[in-house]
Amino acid sequence: MESGGLRAVGSHCSLSEMDDLDLTRALDKPRLKIERKRSFDERSMSELSTGYSRHDGLHDSPRGRSVLDTPLSSARNSFEPHPMMAEAWEALRRSMVFFRGQPVGTLAAVDNTTDEVLNYDQVFVRDFVPSALAFLMNGEPDIVKHFLLKTLQLQGWEKRVDRFKLGEGVMPASFKVLHDPIRETDNIVADFGESAIGRVAPVDSGFWWIILLRAYTKSTGDLTLSETPECQKGMKLILSLCLAEGFDTFPTLLCADGCSMIDRRMGVYGYPIEIQALFFMALRSALSMLKPVGDGREFIEKIVKRLHALSFHMRNYFWLDHQNLNDIYRFKTEEYSHTAVNKFNVMPDSIPEWVFDFMPLRGGYFVGNVGPAHMDFRWFALGNCVSVLSSLATPDQSMAIMDLLEHRWDELVGEMPLKICYPCLEGHEWRIVTGCDPKNTRWSYHNGGSWPVLLWQLTAACIKTGRPQIARRAIDLIESRLHRDCWPEYYDGKLGRYVGKQARKYQTWSIAGYLVAKMLLEDPSHIGMISLEEDKFMKPVIKRSSSWPQL
Ligand code: GLC
Repeated sequence: MESGGLRAVGSHCSLSEMDDLDLTRALDKPRLKIERKRSFDERSMSELSTGYSRHDGLHDSPRGRSVLDTPLSSARNSFEPHPMMAEAWEALRRSMVFFRGQPVGTLAAVDNTTDEVLNYDQVFVRDFVPSALAFLMNGEPDIVKHFLLKTLQLQGWEKRVDRFKLGEGVMPASFKVLHDPIRETDNIVADFGESAIGRVAPVDSGFWWIILLRAYTKSTGDLTLSETPECQKGMKLILSLCLAEGFDTFPTLLCADGCSMIDRRMGVYGYPIEIQALFFMALRSALSMLKPVGDGREFIEKIVKRLHALSFHMRNYFWLDHQNLNDIYRFKTEEYSHTAVNKFNVMPDSIPEWVFDFMPLRGGYFVGNVGPAHMDFRWFALGNCVSVLSSLATPDQSMAIMDLLEHRWDELVGEMPLKICYPCLEGHEWRIVTGCDPKNTRWSYHNGGSWPVLLWQLTAACIKTGRPQIARRAIDLIESRLHRDCWPEYYDGKLGRYVGKQARKYQTWSIAGYLVAKMLLEDPSHIGMISLEEDKFMKPVIKRSSSWPQL
């Protein structure tokens, strides 16, 4: 079956086909389990045509599973499932939110130990992603479908901050279902940034929405949702916001501070890696779902052009390894004209001391931000993991990202996976960059805190790169504490040893992130939902440096 550029493929494969799957070999799991389903990635690889492939093997076998209360993954498990799994499923189900009888999302936290609710009693778009993946992996796609449709409706609302109207495509950061027990009605209020602390619109929400639509489609094989005129329009509205031509000289997306997971001032304005990686992944996901009819064709053309420019820019200018660091250290400045080597006029004196010690001979990462005379050398977890998952990183770069994680385990993982960024800002720098934010003090919250939710992204990146043993180590750490500490939102300290100063308990994405990590490790074929294979026709533009492993 061929439909709108999406190809349906059989769901089973023979043993010989499986032999191609490096993943299987890398994992010392019983083969039987993995043989259930052919890897989506393997499928995408064989279906690449020219340029950026639209044949993304979106059609997977519908699992045809009924909604059960018992998690299927653990019911199927041949070993004893960890007792935390059952507990996590129960907690996840307790966080479910219903609108007129239908499940539409999960609350950010169900913390009964504090009266200070703030907006944690809302469904956040970004927070729902790991919940959605857990439900999809467990064969319960309905809540995901309802969520996608509900947020699509919210996108259609008129959005204003004071007298200023926001772009049509903006997706909410969060929404809340208000239940009137007397009238027996449900109503929704949504926040597009007009109530959020700092009044920043969530640039990541729209990208996560597109990425989730693809995950739903791949997991269920149900093409009908993404092909509806409503979903096609929703994607185009989001794309219009970020593909519009303007004053930009770079293909990266210019952002305000705090417009993503780090939703407070943290010096991540400009071209933050988190947004660039999500942008790239959303573009590739949209490319596989957009129908090439009407203005759909123009969008496809624009996406293909942008992807080429964006991957070139990121792989060249954001990539840092020992060799590049040495080059930047020796940069000349004030170079004018096309021949400039130091294109953004980065001053070598602005390289922070810590990075020289931090950088191993083998390994590398995408830096936090690159702009005019500006390089933020901090390492950010989400951006680097999503770069691996989306194949924004070349295979060599992906390996180098994992090498760095292994080399710098104490700094980046410590006792609790995973640092949101490294290192923290302290003293004068903290005062200037955060505006003296008392929640973002050193090694806390967004400023070098450790966030258990990031475990799912780390695990996914490990599986994609065939290094599940790294994920196992991280999961062991989580299992030794998370449940005992009541699933906190984040941990503080250089090693992540302390439950965060203002961390919520029973934070839903900490719970769901753990479930997703466990299910991914148990059945690595789930990875296809949230990963995209490298497009073979995108030539790597970076020369091999000595720190990259010879593959
Ligand atoms: C915090 C986090 C943000 C998250 C929200 C709800 O504001 O910074 O990323 O979405 O809490 O959990």
